[in-house]
Amino acid sequence: MNILVTGGAGYIGSHICIELIQAGHEIIIVDNFINSNMEVINRMQAITKKKITCLSVDISLKEDLEKVFQNYSIDSVIHLAGSKSVPESLLNPIKYYLQNLVSTIQLVELMNKYKVRQFVFSSSATVYGTPEQCPIPETASLNTTNPYGTTKLAVEKFLYEFAQSNQSFSIVSLRYFNPIGAHESGMIGEDPFSIPNNLMPYITQVATGKLPYLNIYGNDYPTLDGTGIRDYIHVVDLAKGHVKALESLKGKNGWKVFNLGTGEGYSVLQVVKTFEYVSGIPIKYHISDRREGDVAISYADATKAKQQLDWVAEKTLEDMCRDAWRWQRNNPNGYKVRNLEENQLL
Ligand code: WQD
Repeated sequence: MNILVTGGAGYIGSHICIELIQAGHEIIIVDNFINSNMEVINRMQAITKKKITCLSVDISLKEDLEKVFQNYSIDSVIHLAGSKSVPESLLNPIKYYLQNLVSTIQLVELMNKYKVRQFVFSSSATVYGTPEQCPIPETASLNTTNPYGTTKLAVEKFLYEFAQSNQSFSIVSLRYFNPIGAHESGMIGEDPFSIPNNLMPYITQVATGKLPYLNIYGNDYPTLDGTGIRDYIHVVDLAKGHVKALESLKGKNGWKVFNLGTGEGYSVLQVVKTFEYVSGIPIKYHISDRREGDVAISYADATKAKQQLDWVAEKTLEDMCRDAWRWQRNNPNGYKVRNLEENQLL
């Protein structure tokens, strides 16, 4: 099928596109490159040995996005484009509502106009807020604690109600837990534009020496070692889950939601120790105060995706650490390639 992937040049998007291509699909990427680098397209082409169509489009500009629907034959959409920083959303909720909610409504309007009726939405476990129970089933109560999470929940509700009134559509929302790791080639990976918010890229930048030490946000949580527990999932497992979800839409209609997690939780200290074990590099850390908005424990009940999508995360925490390290070790400056003469970052 011809798949439009919004945000396909990002960390998660690039991994999804590789799995889609390797599953035999044709892809069209639209990305505004605010949070991604054109170099990733070169890397993706090298991995897949395929020419990749990538258009520099800001999906919030409806006229520009409509040209894509007019110029390309599209069967389905996987929608990843959006802003995803919890701290930033607390400072700038308007940006998040425009980027994440309004842009998605405009995208669905165009899909409806051009009769593109299969849709995979990138949602997040953040919609569960502070979970009442772990593992967290898809039926758990939804109560967000920040504008980023609220926009994800609002889009889910919009898609649910849209599917009720447009029976020919087939829509699935995928609630990501904590994607980490990188493609086994070490050619693509997570490349935050500034100091990483998330744990794994922070650890790998400590390992390269780019950052002096890791701040562990609190060791007084009610967990085995006091540090926060999360459901880390290898980004390639997450990507394969999207291929399964997309293929589940064929010949169906209505709205479904699935957790994409491993069903296992690991603490911050367990991640640090596992990374040290697979890399052989000690990670210096300081215990600091809890981070505002963090929950103590969050990990998925992943049985619904196993039963209905025939999908299970297969990679271990060691695989995730090993693959994240290979990417960062091979690309200490991420995608910013050096101009060797002037030894300048391009
Ligand atoms: C993981 C654990 C931190 C950094 C966020 C978003 C979520 C999703 C994934 C988009 C926590 C601890 C972290 C550090 C630390 N993004 N930590 N020091 O917060 O679970 O989820 O990213 O969908 O929406 O909220 O991920 O990697 O930031 O934190 O101690 O420098 O690591 O306290 O326990 P999080 P994270």
